[in-house]
This record gives sequence, C-alpha cells and structure tokens, in this order.
Amino acid sequence: MSSDDVKGTTRTIGLIGLPVDHTMSPAMHNAAFRALGLDYVYVPFPVDPIDLPNALDGVRALNIRGCNITMPHKSTCIPLLDGLDTLAESLGAVNTVVNNGGELRGYNTDADGFLRSLKMRNISVAQRRVVIIGAGGAARAVAYVLAREGARLTIVNRTATAAREIAAMIEDDFEEKVLAYPLDDTSLQAALLEANVLVNTTSVGMGPGNDASPVPARLLRPDLTVCDVIYNPVQTRLLADAEAAGAVTVSGVDMLVWQGALSFRLWTGEEAPYDLMRDTVLRLLREA
Ligand code: ATR
Repeated sequence: MSSDDVKGTTRTIGLIGLPVDHTMSPAMHNAAFRALGLDYVYVPFPVDPIDLPNALDGVRALNIRGCNITMPHKSTCIPLLDGLDTLAESLGAVNTVVNNGGELRGYNTDADGFLRSLKMRNISVAQRRVVIIGAGGAARAVAYVLAREGARLTIVNRTATAAREIAAMIEDDFEEKVLAYPLDDTSLQAALLEANVLVNTTSVGMGPGNDASPVPARLLRPDLTVCDVIYNPVQTRLLADAEAAGAVTVSGVDMLVWQGALSFRLWTGEEAPYDLMRDTVLRLLREA
C-alpha cells in the first residue's frame, strides 16, 4: 500500500505508542496489504499516555479497523477497551485491538508469535525444561505460552524477586512448579544443565553492533535450542555463540513477524503472507 493507493474505501490500521519512530510494522503490513490486494493502510500514531483515552475514542469515532498497541500503553489500555481475549487478560498486556462497530477488543499476539516461531521449526516444548532469562513483559508472555504448552520452566533474572513473581503467576495458573534463580554464572550453569531450550528475553545484546550476551559461551551445548526475542541484530551475540556451539537457534525476527502475521489475520480475516513480511523486515534491518 502506498499513498497513491489510498481511496475513499480504504480501511485504516493504526499503531499507538510512544515513540513510534523506529517501528517496522507499517512497512511489514503495508507490503502485505499490497501483495494481497487488500484495501487497508497501516499508519503510526505517536500518543502520549495522557491522551490514550482520547486516542482510543478516536479509533471508535474514526472507524479505524484496528491497531497495534506498543510501549508504554500495553497494560494501561486495558480498562479503556470493551473486551479482552483470554490470553491478553491473563497476561495483563494487549498488543492488538480489533474495532467491531465501535467495540474495541484487545488481543496479545506477542505471546503466540513466540510460540509460532518455535512451531515453524517443529520445536516442541511439552515436558521439556525451558530456561527463560529475564522477568519483564516479554518474559511473562513467553513463560505463559510455554507453560500452556506443557513446558517445565526455570526463570533466571538479575532481580531475583521479579523472577519469583512470574514463577508464582505461572504456578497459580497452571499448578506446575516453576524454578526461579538470580542471574549469575553458578545459577545459570545449574539451570542449563537440565535444560532443552534457552530463551533470552532481556535487552542484553540489543542494538546494532552490541556484542554483549547474557550467557557465557562455554555454557552453550549442541543439544540446546537457543532463542532470543531481540530482533536487532537478527543474530545476537548469544545466537552466534549458540550456533558456534552447534545449537539450533531462533531469532526474535520470527517472533516479530509472527505477531504481525497473527494481528493481520485478526484485522483482515486473511492469512498473512509470512515470507514477504519477513523479507520486508530483514530488508529494513539491513538498511538501518
Ligand atoms: P520487556 O517488557 O521488553 O521484557 P522490561 O520489562 O524492561 O522489558 O524487562 C527487561 C528485562 O531485561 C528485565 O528482566 C531486566 O532485568 P531486571 O528485572 O533485573 O531489571 C533485564 N535486563 C535489562 N538489562 C539487563 C542487564 N544489563 N543485565 C541483566 N538483565 C538485564
């Protein structure tokens, strides 16, 4: 979709966040709309927290078909919506809104996007031990869907109390013991000894040229699957070390594209062109 293609019938999808300057979602979705010949356009809206209620009323009043919600509004938008999907409700975080005749319903495709990035590679987590590093919003989403799939979880975080909080949430919802440790070499080594899958959800290693890793390379093994939710760089230092150790690796790019693909289907009812969306994101990352 380019500005030349916008017509009187064109439906709008918005991105509500602050800042939204570096988002790749407009390029990813507009390429997908164009490829499928869908009469939609995706537009970013920088929205200050104080304006969020008015912005969501604007979605209703302007008949905007739906939107993505990003930082810092993922939780604060919830009381302003008319309904929530069960996953978004459990996580207390929304990244996608669908407007059905003025009724705004919130979804969370980040969490299922992560799961799809594993499933597309036939990586199964049921009954397997997964170590999650980090205990922020991304860790919460990842932990929740992994527990739903029957994974056995260990959460390791710099601030141990935050790891224990997520562990308690999962234990409450799934009646399954979750281990929680501080992020230090001894704990990591012990946790990884038992692990099949490792997921980094921290920001360690994020940003072009960033050479930091949350895990010493010597702890990585060929029988581990190593995932990073970071998508820039596409291959973080952690993933490069994991690949060098012979492990299977999963980049955050696939989680990013899958969350987009799942949102796309919610707004349009159409299956998203995954490969095209991924190529678009990779091209933007190369050009950045
Ligand atoms: P998100 O919503 O993207 O998950 P977040 O809620 O800010 O982001 O969480 C960031 C995570 O990265 C946290 O687990 C944080 O650890 P703390 O709970 O101790 O703050 C982790 N993190 C950020 N910088 C880190 C660093 N330099 N070393 C280790 N962990 C780090």
